[in-house]
Amino acid sequence: MKRIELFEFEDFDWLPSAVRTGATNLIIIFHQLMGTKEVIAQLLLDLQKQHHFNRIVDLGSGSGGPMPDVVQQLNKSTPEKPVSLLLSDLHPNPKIVAATNGQNNEHIKYHTKPINASEIGNAPEGLKTMIASFHHMNPSTAKKILRSAEENREPLFIYEVAKNNVPLLLWVLLLPLSLTILLIMSLVMTLFVRPLTFKQLLFTYIIPLIPIVYAWDGQASLMRTYTFNDIEHLLAENKNPNYQWTIADATKPNGKKLGYYISGMPTKSE
Ligand SMILES: C[S@@+](CC[C@H](N)C(=O)[O-])C[C@H]1O[C@@H](n2cnc3c(N)ncnc32)[C@H](O)[C@@H]1O
Repeated sequence: MKRIELFEFEDFDWLPSAVRTGATNLIIIFHQLMGTKEVIAQLLLDLQKQHHFNRIVDLGSGSGGPMPDVVQQLNKSTPEKPVSLLLSDLHPNPKIVAATNGQNNEHIKYHTKPINASEIGNAPEGLKTMIASFHHMNPSTAKKILRSAEENREPLFIYEVAKNNVPLLLWVLLLPLSLTILLIMSLVMTLFVRPLTFKQLLFTYIIPLIPIVYAWDGQASLMRTYTFNDIEHLLAENKNPNYQWTIADATKPNGKKLGYYISGMPTKSE
């Protein structure tokens, strides 16, 4: 496997919540700058033509990521058939759950109880999605997730924004430069965070923990992302002829590539 099991600060429970939230806020700005919302929304619209769904159950949602924006965009394009979104996580953060559910948005809710992505059969009904979270799963969990979708004949859509196509040696040699670029970028991106809190400013410009976490996690994510060959390897034991896997590059409306997706679809009833 090309993927390497590096650590990301985001995966540690001890990371102070102000720093975690600050780094997550930068990831949201990153998604907005890259245009991931449009890419994911278009892929889901295409998927809906193959498999009708009116509810999305997002797994490993963390702070929500781009999915609330994606669903709002979907509902703008098809207001006659609104889609609802249920965010979920193995470790749902009570503050984020309360903030999401407190918005009283009839279409967007956060599940209060833990949902394990590797037990898809136990998750509420709906199209299962995993956005920028699959690379956090080690190969054994990643295999379980894919197998669980296939065994339960549940449709699954996974999106990763990065592609692990940089040779390891080059990645190591360029690390000082790429970390510096991400650190500088985070200083600028912070100005676009809304609401811009005192803690975000404090842990960015006075004690720069948020930029350090953002820069390292960004670089580590690249090496943790599964390549197409890695995914084929994970799927090697999945042999159900009535369940179809697609692994493909994702593209923006202007034709530029932005990450990739894996979709798993039941093809015939058994
Ligand atoms: C990178 S974070 C959140 C990504 C989020 N979807 C986004 O776009 O910002 C990955 C999340 O996966 C969750 N997670 C880890 N293992 C999981 C599992 N087996 N089932 C469900 N969630 C899991 C973690 O708690 C973490 O919140």
